[in-house]
Amino acid sequence: NPVPAFDLVLFGAAGDLACRKLFPALYRRDMEGVLPEGSRILAVGRRPMSDDEFRQELAAKLGGGEEALRRFLGRILYRCADFESPETVGALAQDLTDPSRVRAFYLSIPPRYYAPLCRALGEQGLVTPLSRIVVEKPIGSNLASARAIMDEVASVFDERATYRIDHYLGKETVQNLLVLRQANTIFERLWSNRDVDHIQITCAEEVGLEERAGYYDSSGALRDMVQNHVLQLLCLVAMEPPNSLSADAVRDEKLRILKALQPIEGADVLARTVRGQYEAGLIRGAPVLGYQSEFGRASETETFVAIRTELRTWRWAGVPIFLRTGKRMAGRYSEIVVTFKPVPHSIFDGLGPDGRIEPNRLIIRLQPDEGMQLFTMSKIPGSGRLRLRRTALDLRFGEAFHEPAPDAYERLITDVLRGDQTLFMRRDEVEAAWSFVDPIAAGWQAHYRLAHRYPAGANGPPQAFGLIAREGRNWHDL
Ligand code: BG6
Repeated sequence: NPVPAFDLVLFGAAGDLACRKLFPALYRRDMEGVLPEGSRILAVGRRPMSDDEFRQELAAKLGGGEEALRRFLGRILYRCADFESPETVGALAQDLTDPSRVRAFYLSIPPRYYAPLCRALGEQGLVTPLSRIVVEKPIGSNLASARAIMDEVASVFDERATYRIDHYLGKETVQNLLVLRQANTIFERLWSNRDVDHIQITCAEEVGLEERAGYYDSSGALRDMVQNHVLQLLCLVAMEPPNSLSADAVRDEKLRILKALQPIEGADVLARTVRGQYEAGLIRGAPVLGYQSEFGRASETETFVAIRTELRTWRWAGVPIFLRTGKRMAGRYSEIVVTFKPVPHSIFDGLGPDGRIEPNRLIIRLQPDEGMQLFTMSKIPGSGRLRLRRTALDLRFGEAFHEPAPDAYERLITDVLRGDQTLFMRRDEVEAAWSFVDPIAAGWQAHYRLAHRYPAGANGPPQAFGLIAREGRNWHDL
């Protein structure tokens, strides 16, 4: 579907996300000719600025060819508004005069403003039948607060007009997961507790607190990454094949997975989760501060989580699922690892270590170097003694395709404008994810307040290795 003519109202236009991701994504789309003539971006911030001042600030960040930049900046108007003041929000009506266009309100602002801003948009008559709203995570900090926020938004925008972004769903390899499973026959046949030994998901980052210390410290890795990105990845790996690509067919199946997660509650959190916090260490050889020095205060907020869970379904019962995410880890990589069961009987045992068979592993790498590797056993060439070694069938998307991989936001913003909700979280998904996370957070509060320490540059505390080693498995680390 082509993108229809639109007015995009971007609240928080001078903020970090808008400058780092949203404007560059829109700009690239414009250069590709995807944005129709006359479509406009109403950039809204709290700092008074003229259109030209804003455009100049933005131009310095965007770069690119002169003609393309001039055309893109020509689409942008800047307006100053206080997100909590209905009058200043109402003044946007002077620029939003065409109800026949798609009107998208993008809230790239702290969630505490979602409710007052939505109310103001409704009361001031800015919401047309073609309007939609885009909200970023975090949606609340637990189930109750998420529901309160979603209720407020829902009093103005119905579910069909609400786009909850999880930018991981916009990543190329994440969408490729659907294709891998549903456009090939070999994987789906092996995709169950009959042949899969266990599943791991790792989202590792090298960065520390960055510029968001206040938010991060009140959130921590469980709420910041597990509640959304990590669980969404699990959904796509584990869900039943949907019967079509329609938004609700896909989201219905994802929801079933979230609801099938085995809850982790009470003292069980000690056995099934690991909380970690980084101390001073080395990232790529350079010394970095520990979390508390970076934050400037004592804190037990976790910067690393590992979880061992299971899915209560016929397909997956008995298959351990290990999830892990953290900051200041040994590298920046996100990957899903499916380890298959060992061969039932090995005829190579007599060869000693040369005949050791490692189970097949499929690694689906989201970033960096998007691709897939399938670890298989092979014979080492030679006419002497038979010897085996693990080798990889290696597919690197960057080499296999010449088309550039777009940034997640390029995909997601155009999906909003086109009206495709497939890659956005439905309300019930958000609720189900919080229902899994809340008891873990409560269990930590009661039984596990102190985070285990790990040096920056390590893949979490030793306890995270214990969590998986106890079950005779190991993390897939390079
Ligand atoms: C965000 C989190 O949602 O995702 C950040 O709030 C995290 O803490 C980021 O750094 C990771 O995204 P990406 O695309 O860099 O893996």
